[in-house]
Amino acid sequence: MAEFRLTERDYRYLFENASDAMWVHDMEGNILDGNKAFGKLTGYTLGEWAGMNVSQFLTDEFQASAREARRKLCNGEDLEQPYEQQLVRRDGTTRTVKLSTSSIIISGEVKGFQHVARDVTEEKQLEESKAFYVDEVIRAQEHERKRIARGLHDDVSPPLLLLAQGLDTLTSAKRQRLSESLLKQTLEKLRSQAIDALESLRCCAQGLRPRILDDLGLVAALEWMTDDLVKTREIDAYFEIVGVEQTLPAETQLLLFRIAQEALNNTKRHAQASRAVVRLEFQHDNLKMTVNDNGRGFELPKRIGDWASIGQLGLAGMQERARLIGGRLAIQSEIGKGTTVAIEVPLKGSLSL
Ligand SMILES: Nc1ncnc2c1ncn2[C@@H]1O[C@H](COP(=O)(O)OP(=O)(O)O)[C@@H](O)[C@H]1O
Ligand SMILES: [Mg+2]
Repeated sequence: MAEFRLTERDYRYLFENASDAMWVHDMEGNILDGNKAFGKLTGYTLGEWAGMNVSQFLTDEFQASAREARRKLCNGEDLEQPYEQQLVRRDGTTRTVKLSTSSIIISGEVKGFQHVARDVTEEKQLEESKAFYVDEVIRAQEHERKRIARGLHDDVSPPLLLLAQGLDTLTSAKRQRLSESLLKQTLEKLRSQAIDALESLRCCAQGLRPRILDDLGLVAALEWMTDDLVKTREIDAYFEIVGVEQTLPAETQLLLFRIAQEALNNTKRHAQASRAVVRLEFQHDNLKMTVNDNGRGFELPKRIGDWASIGQLGLAGMQERARLIGGRLAIQSEIGKGTTVAIEVPLKGSLSL
């Protein structure tokens, strides 16, 4: 078998076509060579970067760390690789890269450096945005707990306290002196206090998880939610269903309900809308839910992933919930015209058998 040897041309091909950016510069920092990915990373073409100095690609903040890396390599000291750097592109934007650097030694002397870099900008942004999201979710959870605790304390405790006091009075020694009619009156009052407490408790529980969803399912729960909006908020909200209703797994129902709840909450809080429509459309192998309002609309961020990082947790949460049930969420909004939140979920395989 003939010996397997790569020619200079083969290595050149590998260098040119590697997906990581690679470049070489001399001791003064003059760029001597770079591959296609280097051109893509920096935004400069071959003709342009030949003759440029490596310092032109470094942000001020990272000039010193680049010098330090080179110094360590020259002195044979340990350098943790790959290390992070920021590069300035031709258009002035910066990219974060993970960089591995080694020295080029000719006749025992360091003559230059070669670098291999992977662009990790998006990865880092995603990481930061995830960390931010988790942070915010925990904060929101705490906030929600406080709200529930306050609700219980402010609305449920007082009628219960009154009830207990009333019962105390009744069971005290003075009881015998109460006339029949006064006794009846007092018991009526206590009963109404008990009902008040029960009603407040129901409200708290309903806000946490509407029983109607567990008892009667998504369609009934969405109907209840739009009816409630009409009753309380003067928004002309209604629910419509298209196609033949199919049974959905409990988890899908819950997450769709939460998405509709958040979308309608946004309509209530931000849209100044006079009308809202929740629509559930059973297609052949797809379920589409839309929540539409005729409110003032808003400007959407350029990229969907930006929601969490700019603190729009309601929108980010809707998207996360859609993802959990294998669905796709799309939001359309036009200033002055209104907003539509749409989610499509595949029905195949998500049907409960
Ligand atoms: N239906 C809507 N109509 C108008 N503006 C909306 C609507 N939904 C969302 N928005 C805008 O998007 C922002 C982000 O929404 P969201 O992530 O739910 O956060 P929050 O409701 O806590 O402000 C809102 O503050 C609001 O400005
Ligand atoms: Mg919201």
